[in-house]
Amino acid sequence: MIQNLQEKKTKLAVIGLGYVGLPLALEFAKKYSVIGFDINQNRVESLQQHTDPSEDVDEKSFENTDILFTSQHKDLQDATVYIVAVPTPIDAYNIPDLQPLISATKSVAKVLKKGDYVVYESTVYPGATEEDCLPLLEKISGLTLGEDFKLGYSPERINPGDKINTLTNILKIVSGSDSEALAYIAELYGSIITAGIYKASSIKVAEAAKIIENTQRDVNIALMNELSILFSKMNINTFEVLEAASTKWNFYNVTPGLVGGHCIGVDPYYLTYKANQLKHHPKIITSGRAINDEMPIYLAKKIIKEINRSGKILKESRVLILGATFKENVSDIRNSKIFDTVQELKSYSIDVTVVDPYASSEQVKEYYSHDLHREPYGTYDVIVLAVKHKEFCDLPESYFVNLSNKELIFFDLKGIYRDMLNAHIYFSL
Ligand SMILES: NC(=O)c1ccc[n+]([C@@H]2O[C@H](COP(=O)([O-])OP(=O)(O)OC[C@H]3O[C@@H](n4cnc5c(N)ncnc54)[C@H](O)[C@@H]3O)[C@@H](O)[C@H]2O)c1
Repeated sequence: MIQNLQEKKTKLAVIGLGYVGLPLALEFAKKYSVIGFDINQNRVESLQQHTDPSEDVDEKSFENTDILFTSQHKDLQDATVYIVAVPTPIDAYNIPDLQPLISATKSVAKVLKKGDYVVYESTVYPGATEEDCLPLLEKISGLTLGEDFKLGYSPERINPGDKINTLTNILKIVSGSDSEALAYIAELYGSIITAGIYKASSIKVAEAAKIIENTQRDVNIALMNELSILFSKMNINTFEVLEAASTKWNFYNVTPGLVGGHCIGVDPYYLTYKANQLKHHPKIITSGRAINDEMPIYLAKKIIKEINRSGKILKESRVLILGATFKENVSDIRNSKIFDTVQELKSYSIDVTVVDPYASSEQVKEYYSHDLHREPYGTYDVIVLAVKHKEFCDLPESYFVNLSNKELIFFDLKGIYRDMLNAHIYFSL
């Protein structure tokens, strides 16, 4: 089968061309004939012009690739391998929203043929591929797993904005519905991944491996956030504690922070949802989520307390927030927790200026109904350095002093400017 792909007698389709699907489709398209399918027509049109609307993939990556970008379902029928990389978000009640996954599965099922492969890459709870997607594939196509087609799951482990650990140099976990499927899927991914392939013993194991990577991170950040709240009461700087503790060889060095984005703060809810279905009520995972979700309000309360302490009137105060995205050096503002802090401050009639070099002001307006600025203007009563963008990491002390009204009240969430610890009114997490 790989030979058929190599000889371009058959095609490979990637369904969902976002942060995960696009780099994957382009990598496969260096070797094989690829159909890149996405329901978002604007995105497809932009990709046809070799522009990634997410600004994650550069124009050069489109060179020397054999790929058709399409939003036409009929184009999918030419493929024999289907890789699904659509979003797996949660709804307003933190319940998994499988709608994109189900809809993509239906698109594949309608064109599924004997001998085809379907591989899921979207992050899901263990069981979703076989219990939620497979029945739809079989029902709509009229085909039977094993006899007619094969199934697999291979989680994506890329880290948004990370230009070092990229698709091809991260070891890839693969799994298959039987040994033949596993061997084929391993060979397929092995043809583009240089870091190597790990063959998981089952689809559920591969699904679980991915979801616990992010859950473990979420819980560890929650522990650090809890310690940060405690250390703040003790007048101890958490980053100084972490620096000291990490001199031990096996200390797991995770820093406190706001947990946003569409992976770390979302994926644990997939696991807790499944756990609750099985009448197991997870405690550590849900506590971690609760702590992390409360951090933006904790931060807002601290800012308000400092404004009061300094004798200023809340509704006459101005707060500058440096950084709007959910993490450093990316433009992605989806589920950025700093806007929870902004909303809380605004509910006290505090004037908040948000500055970010990467985020799109249109998107910030659309998602959070707030104006975004490229530069601060005027002076501020409190300055919050929220995101570790490289532009914010090497500023002179005078930059912050000049932007502040009288005394500098500085919330340096990531502890970058700890040398200011004793010189001004300084907080980190
Ligand atoms: N972004 C990351 O760094 C990352 C890392 C590892 C895993 N993941 C997981 O990978 C999956 C995809 O995430 P992403 O960040 O690429 O999402 P994304 O939002 O960037 O892109 C998803 C794309 O899928 C398209 N889409 C939605 N429904 C569709 C459908 N029915 N048919 C075809 N296309 C459809 C959307 O239009 C969008 O372009 C998620 O499960 C996510 O949790 C993401």
